[in-house]
Amino acid sequence: MAVQISPSILTADFSRLADELARIKDADWAHIDVMDNHFVPNLTFGRAAVEAMARVSPIPLDCHLMIDEPDRWAPGFAEAGAGSVTFHAEAAQAPVRLARELRAQGVRAGLALRPATPVEPYLDLLPEFDMILVMTVEPGFGGQKFLDVCLPKVRRTRAAVRASGLDVWVQVDGGVSEATIERCADAGADVFVAGSAVYGADDAAAKIADLRALATAACQH
Ligand code: DX5
Ligand code: ZN
Repeated sequence: MAVQISPSILTADFSRLADELARIKDADWAHIDVMDNHFVPNLTFGRAAVEAMARVSPIPLDCHLMIDEPDRWAPGFAEAGAGSVTFHAEAAQAPVRLARELRAQGVRAGLALRPATPVEPYLDLLPEFDMILVMTVEPGFGGQKFLDVCLPKVRRTRAAVRASGLDVWVQVDGGVSEATIERCADAGADVFVAGSAVYGADDAAAKIADLRALATAACQH
C-alpha cells in the first residue's frame, strides 16, 4: 500500500493559485474542493476554474465534488482535466452509472461518505470505484477538528477492500495533520488529504514529507 498525499487548496491563496499549486509539486495530487452552496454551506470553484488549474498544475487534480446533482455535473470535471473525480454517495442518483461514465472518460472514480453515512450499503459496489473517501469532518470548510468517530469506518472500509482483493484506495479528508495522520494510516487509509496542515506551513514541501513519513511508518504495522 503506497502512501499518497493530496493537499487541499481550500486554504491556499486564491489570488495566486498557480504559485500555490507549484508549492505542493512534491505531493501526489492536488485536492480541489468543489462546493455548490447546496450540498454544503460554502461555495468554491466551478468547472472553468478547474480547467484553468489543470493547465498549470504540476501534479494531477483530485476533484472532490461536494455538490448536488453530481450525475449531471461530474463528467464536466473529467472533461476539465481532473485525474480523479469523487462524488458524494448522499447526492448521487445512480452512483454505478456515474462511476462507469467517469471511468469511460479516463479518470479515476471516487465515492465519498459524510461522517453519518455508513459504508456498508456501498460495499457491493467496490468494483465500480477506484477510491472510497471517508470524510473525517463534516464537509464544507477547511481547518475543522478531526473526528475520531470516523476511524472505525476507515477500518471497515480497508477490511472490505482487502477482502475483495481489489486495488481500491481509501482516502481520508478533514483535520488530517501530523497529530492525526498516524491514526488514519493505522486504520487503513492510504490517501491523505491535508489542507490547513500543508498551506498553513511555511515550508509546504517539508510538511508534505513529514506527513508522508508519519503515514508510511504507521502503515507498516
Ligand atoms: C472539507 C474539505 C476538505 C478540507 C480539508 O469539506 O473537503 O478537503 O479542505 O481541510 P483541512 O485539512 O484543513 O481539514
Ligand atoms: Zn475535500
